[in-house]
Amino acid sequence: MRSRPWDQIAADDLARLRHAHLLRERRIIEPIDATHVRWGGREYVNFSSNNYLGLTHHPRVVAAAKLAIEIYGVGAGAAPLISGYGPAHQSAERAIARWKGMESAVLLPSGYQANHAAIQTVASTAFSHLAGEARFAEAKGKRLASEAAKRENLPPDRDLPAREKVKGGVRFLVDKLAHASLIDAIRATDETIRVFPHNHIAKLRRLLEESRECQLQVVVTESIFSMDGDAADLRAITELKAKHDFILLVDEAHASGVYGPNGNGLAAELGVGDMVDVSVMTLSKALGGIGGAVCGSSIFCEALINYARAYLFSTSIPPATAAAAETAVEVVQEEPGRRDRLRRLARFVRERIGKTRFAVPTGDSPIIPIVLGEEAAALAAAEKLWAEGLLVMAVRPPTVAKGSSRLRVTLSSEHTDAEIERLIQAVETLP
Ligand SMILES: Cc1ncc(COP(=O)(O)O)c(C=O)c1O
Repeated sequence: MRSRPWDQIAADDLARLRHAHLLRERRIIEPIDATHVRWGGREYVNFSSNNYLGLTHHPRVVAAAKLAIEIYGVGAGAAPLISGYGPAHQSAERAIARWKGMESAVLLPSGYQANHAAIQTVASTAFSHLAGEARFAEAKGKRLASEAAKRENLPPDRDLPAREKVKGGVRFLVDKLAHASLIDAIRATDETIRVFPHNHIAKLRRLLEESRECQLQVVVTESIFSMDGDAADLRAITELKAKHDFILLVDEAHASGVYGPNGNGLAAELGVGDMVDVSVMTLSKALGGIGGAVCGSSIFCEALINYARAYLFSTSIPPATAAAAETAVEVVQEEPGRRDRLRRLARFVRERIGKTRFAVPTGDSPIIPIVLGEEAAALAAAEKLWAEGLLVMAVRPPTVAKGSSRLRVTLSSEHTDAEIERLIQAVETLP
């Protein structure tokens, strides 16, 4: 193939990344079962998967997917508003909404897209459904003339109904460690974003106090943080609602299936589920599949279906994926022993690794960070564990802050006690 100048530019960039130990490369890792993989001809215990309950291989979940493939085929064939939304999607959405204690749920092709859809819907419906037109009437009056003039020069948004939007009317207040999908989604709205230090409730309160009239504030956080495995202080955040008017959007990607009386998330476990306005989850972690779901009021979900581009312009998840997710939700509720074991293992591993030179945060989430600092140190530590047949990956910037490169150990209820012991002993002997 002809060499192009921009290929040379990219090659130089990649060489710089390699030199800085930041180059990312895919590996071909073949699953054997829920917790074992084959890589480069060798078998490993997988401590780098979000398959917290082993549901990727649960016989009931697999059977549900197979049956749905036989009935509906392997793909949805179209976006949901064309012809890609079927009975399997509707049934899974209803099951997820019931499980989450929300009025409605909408399925999306990934958790990443679910966050985009949720955030865009909050931004574009804030003026009508959530905050009330009247509240923003004055702001609208002042700004509409210039907005309209700008719009004249824009190509028409052919597939979307016309919508009045006032820039600056929504302000997103986001935890510093919120997932990239949340940050990307907020940036895409072009609304104001203010980042508060991780779990810093006093700072969040101060930001809420700064609210201008005619401005809707949206607090955005994960419940269990993906790279640190610690929990948001959802009680304290929801208490702020007594004095401040804001929408609370919580990404429960890593808590769904693991926390809560029915595995329905950390907000439910803390008894503050009713205070969460929009709850986002993935089907790709504890549920073992792929896809995302946005849960909220029926009117919010209806708005999402109408306005969220991540929903409108993407093919629906395969019906079999929806059916698998629905069965996974049943399994989560019917087999609480899986999450009980997982959290017991998480406490045990944290306690034992906490006695080594590594400080691990307390808690019982299955995400356990072992911070090494420099990228090269994290990579070298990962390689030491690989030599022991343990698959643990190094996480480096930009996924985590510079100087906090780490091993990100993730546990599954399906790890055996012996495998957990092998992991701990290998970490104990890290230089
Ligand atoms: C907190 C959080 N939100 C959203 C996502 C995106 O989910 P998905 O992988 O299903 O796109 C992830 C996944 O990495 C995540 O950790």
